[in-house]
Amino acid sequence: MTVRKATVEDADKISRLEASAFPKEEAASLAAFQDRLRVYPDHFLVVEHDGEILCCVNGLVTDEKDLTDEMYASADLHDKNGKWQMIFGVATHPDHRRQGLASDMVRRFVGQAEKEGRLGVVLTCKEYLVHFYERLGFVNEGVSGSAHGGVTWYQMRLTFTRQKN
Ligand SMILES: CC(C)(COP(=O)(O)OP(=O)(O)OC[C@H]1O[C@@H](n2cnc3c(N)ncnc32)[C@H](O)[C@@H]1OP(=O)(O)O)[C@@H](O)C(=O)NCCC(=O)NCCS
Repeated sequence: MTVRKATVEDADKISRLEASAFPKEEAASLAAFQDRLRVYPDHFLVVEHDGEILCCVNGLVTDEKDLTDEMYASADLHDKNGKWQMIFGVATHPDHRRQGLASDMVRRFVGQAEKEGRLGVVLTCKEYLVHFYERLGFVNEGVSGSAHGGVTWYQMRLTFTRQKN
């Protein structure tokens, strides 16, 4: 298995993975992935095996503290010098779940954001995954303003603490 950043050539495979992981109303389209990959390929991490993408984490960077629905749709809201790394989607192929892939990828994505000097990482998730992200160090901030896919989302934040000299 290889872990790497993505390129625009991966858009097709990533959108197929997305469709296998999310209901239609929540899944990002091929066009959305093409846009995102043109603007912020460095903020995509994928696990690849035998030419297939098994797991993917992605999201833009912004000075906005909270994750909004507009961010999903507008890749041009990405600000490479922004303070917060957002996570839009974590998806693992159904045949490869519960082997630690998503946990490992989220940890790596968080590690990259910390190295880049961000303040932290923000995501939204459904209630049944709150404990999963808490295990990875995220704090539940309650119901988010997002109406993405017509369901209730919880906003979760991991804030980096830096030693002061
Ligand atoms: C959620 C998801 C990304 C987890 O991927 P994964 O590679 O299987 O994750 P890991 O193996 O690292 O961790 C598995 C943990 O996730 C949590 N989890 C996964 N599916 C769950 C479910 N249906 N109900 C409750 N917890 C679940 C559990 O804590 C589980 O730990 P356990 O196996 O010890 O019980 C994957 O199930 C997926 O793609 N789901 C559909 C898309 C989705 O909902 N993404 C999250 C949006 S924020």
